[in-house]
Amino acid sequence: MSRFEHQDELNHPREETPEFTQMVEQGVSRRRFLGVGAAFGAVAFFAMAPISRSIAAALAPTASPLLGFKAVPASTADKVIVPEGYQVERLISWGDPLFADAAEFSNQLKNNTAANQQRQFGDNNDGMSFFPIDQQTAILAVNNEYSNYELMFEHQGHKMTAADVQYAQAAHGVSVMTLTKQAQGWRFDKNGRFNRRIDANTPMRISGPAKGHALLQTRADPKGEIALGTFNNCANGMTPWGTYLTCEENFNGYFGSDAQVDISSSFARYGIGTKDAGYSWYKFDPRFDLAQEPNEPHRFGWVVEIDPLDPKATPIKRTALGRFKHENAELVIAEDGHVVVYLGDDERGEHIYRFVSRNTYNPTDQAANRNLLDDGELFVARFNEDGSGEWLSLAHGQNGLTPDNGFQSQAQILIHARLAATQVGATTMDRPEWVAVHPHEPMVFCTLTNNKNRGIETHQAVNGPNPRAENHYGQIVRWLPSAGQHNAKDFQWDLFLMAGNPEVHGGTPYAGSSNITGDNMFNSPDGIGFDQGGRLWIQSDGNYSNQGDFAGQGNNQMLSADPKTGEIRRFLTGPVACEITGLAFTEDHKSLFIGVQHPGEKGAPSSFPMGGAAVPRSSVMVITRTDGGVIGA
Ligand code: FEO
Ligand code: CA
Ligand code: CA
Repeated sequence: MSRFEHQDELNHPREETPEFTQMVEQGVSRRRFLGVGAAFGAVAFFAMAPISRSIAAALAPTASPLLGFKAVPASTADKVIVPEGYQVERLISWGDPLFADAAEFSNQLKNNTAANQQRQFGDNNDGMSFFPIDQQTAILAVNNEYSNYELMFEHQGHKMTAADVQYAQAAHGVSVMTLTKQAQGWRFDKNGRFNRRIDANTPMRISGPAKGHALLQTRADPKGEIALGTFNNCANGMTPWGTYLTCEENFNGYFGSDAQVDISSSFARYGIGTKDAGYSWYKFDPRFDLAQEPNEPHRFGWVVEIDPLDPKATPIKRTALGRFKHENAELVIAEDGHVVVYLGDDERGEHIYRFVSRNTYNPTDQAANRNLLDDGELFVARFNEDGSGEWLSLAHGQNGLTPDNGFQSQAQILIHARLAATQVGATTMDRPEWVAVHPHEPMVFCTLTNNKNRGIETHQAVNGPNPRAENHYGQIVRWLPSAGQHNAKDFQWDLFLMAGNPEVHGGTPYAGSSNITGDNMFNSPDGIGFDQGGRLWIQSDGNYSNQGDFAGQGNNQMLSADPKTGEIRRFLTGPVACEITGLAFTEDHKSLFIGVQHPGEKGAPSSFPMGGAAVPRSSVMVITRTDGGVIGA
């Protein structure tokens, strides 16, 4: 998330209702969890049960054969803690040189400049992907989501200048890094030929159905074909043809105006307003001023495809995947060769999407796959109360997406995908974050991180996969595509877990599902991903106060789960005030890269990773086993 993740609250200001237990009694305990047993075949472990403990009856209490490490306890320490027999090392941190001739980061903040940052690792690393080149060489492409002004500037963002904005813009985007395998493991190579910084000013092609649309045209780009930069790059994806997908999330917070601007309609739905959300870009860079460039916000909120092998390649914004606050882009090739991309839109009450390509993947001709993401059909998910679900097409002319209802073209539907999703009747979700597809079985998981407005906002009544009002803890929904086909129209769904606190809320749905215990509890699942062994890795981005509803949960963390038994074990704890986000395995699964984002945010006492009096800095860490074995096994 970003520091302006709460931007939507500007548009929906509402006091939190403290009647937590009351909501449990009224809104949740009467609801029932509907299993989909038969559909799961060998994985049938859900039976009809009260939702409060839905997973209880079904999950085997026996130890999972998949999870071979000893769990770590919750922690409030200012360091990364991994299980016995594992080691964790720092790979790179915000401001480290990305090239041999680049400047070092300075703890004297005024010494850090835009010119330096353009050749340094970006800030707030998030999603990342590992691309093997040969036995000794690989690429790690890493998102740099946003900036913490309170850590970046001596004035903590209160006296911004044009130069400060340029520095912040240079800290956003994507860092592409060459890794080499050395005696001590995988290390970053400053001299590597793939090293590249992509930031908020890097030219990008706009491609797909919305390319050139009037809503994408600006004074600087009257054809609507070339956008400058990418920012708030949250999570990611990778394609089997060797490209990296970076996803633009809370882009709205960078726009504003001191003039009067009409922010009704689509601007309101996307959280775009005139008030400064804190970045101040519009005050110094006219392209972020809504009064001067009202179409500039339409050029963000996309999935961007990057060729990491070619540092000169122009990144491409793939408009066929829709415009919203993208989390990740989980790509899978359907059995018949069509490319399926699952996409979450991270905001309270928004939706889960799916793209299906028109053409099929060609494993023998990678060049032929280059534009598969430009042509296809976008869908949005409806989850029914009975455990069934359906993908609703967002194709122009279907499901009421007609001129009568204000939808003039496919391009306009993609630019205003949220409005189209509402038109077709998509289910409002508890902030969809990452989607992960099981590597060997047609099972899909999506984190629904939390939603304090559930059951409070009138359009967000509790519903099947979002069963708890005022949901501070989050859950993971899972679905099984019909007949195992990712491009099928229908699916069956259930909940894999509900996070909670059994020590504070025992006996209520806020204790969480039965696979949540005092030993593995956490809140706000966010990053998820499978390894090839079928372990589901879960990262948290939640409340780290360790108090009240979150007592005993400590700092944000990473866990590993067996998707069949439901067992969940805590693998790692992060430093003070961080979130753990981003994960990538090497091909042999003996090294795992994870991201520590925003340690020490909002003035919390951290000096991670350098210690002493150093400025806390987001970092990529690499984890290995001392015996050289497979991570997690
Ligand atoms: Fe950047 Fe939804 O997290
Ligand atoms: Ca996230
Ligand atoms: Ca989050």
